[in-house]
Amino acid sequence: MGHQTTSPADVIRDIPKAELHIHVEGSLEPEMMFDLARRNGVSLPYRSVEKVRRAYAFANLQEFLDLYYQGMAVLQTEEDFFALADAYLRRAAADGVVHVEMFFDPQAHTGRGVPLGTLMDGLERAIVRSRERGVSVSLILCFLRHLTEREAFETLEEAEPYLDRLLGVGLDSSEVGHPPSKFARVFAAARDLGLRLVAHAGEEGPPEYVWEALEILGVERIDHGNRALEDDALVARLRDDRIPLTVCPLSNLALRVVDDLAAHPIRRMLDLGLLATVNSDDPAYFGGYINENFRRVAEAVDLSTAGIETLARNSLDASFAARSPRAGA
Ligand code: HPA
Ligand code: ZN
Repeated sequence: MGHQTTSPADVIRDIPKAELHIHVEGSLEPEMMFDLARRNGVSLPYRSVEKVRRAYAFANLQEFLDLYYQGMAVLQTEEDFFALADAYLRRAAADGVVHVEMFFDPQAHTGRGVPLGTLMDGLERAIVRSRERGVSVSLILCFLRHLTEREAFETLEEAEPYLDRLLGVGLDSSEVGHPPSKFARVFAAARDLGLRLVAHAGEEGPPEYVWEALEILGVERIDHGNRALEDDALVARLRDDRIPLTVCPLSNLALRVVDDLAAHPIRRMLDLGLLATVNSDDPAYFGGYINENFRRVAEAVDLSTAGIETLARNSLDASFAARSPRAGA
């Protein structure tokens, strides 16, 4: 063989990686949305798959969330949740993902009358299949932060029969106006149950929310964390304590967290010594699965092969499979 150079796309495809920031409901492709709507007799406010895709033009997080909750209303039966997770996990495997820590939003389903057991059983079946194919999967239950502390507590209680199927809890949905401190007692209770803790922070919210997630909730990982870069002391804390950031470039572009992928901070995060990772967030809504996120951001900020390799290694190091609970946590 000669000295053919390996293209960045080949490096990205072939390198083992973990996906740590994927909302399974955000992998609902418009085609499946239509199939399930028909099967379940749900009416959608779109006439075609193309019209759905055209509606995905967001000015901010809330505009996305409105369509995200609307779209997932087609998910009703155990089979639906199985089909959703199975399709995502097959795509992830094809992208060289070897381990997934998958978010789900139970309140977005129980709130419209779908029993928790229906989704837990459908997701579990897909997870078992994935493990049989060699990709490990764990589940992280996310609380919707626009809802109340009481509703989060009720969800945690409802989930107790399924504790052995849960790795941890997270916090997502509308960030600004719903600081992590709102859920201090819920996260303390989750920790007492032995669950690992993560939270979305610093996507649209200020650095103060990232501090709260660390200091008040005691999370071990920050989802997004872009705005942490505005605070030097916070950057030092994240670096010194090796707190991972689960960064989502195409999400950041679609939700206008960055104006342009060329301005994406992923490379600066690496240069600062942060344990940054690349993830897809809601790939059906933001235009790409994990490898597409790697390819697009690597090209936009001119990441070297070494940079790509660092990001992939970071994802394995940042996974809970690789990290025991923090001392004192
Ligand atoms: N941010 C907040 N909530 C979410 C997201 C996100 O990126 N994706 C799905 N729910
Ligand atoms: Zn997210």
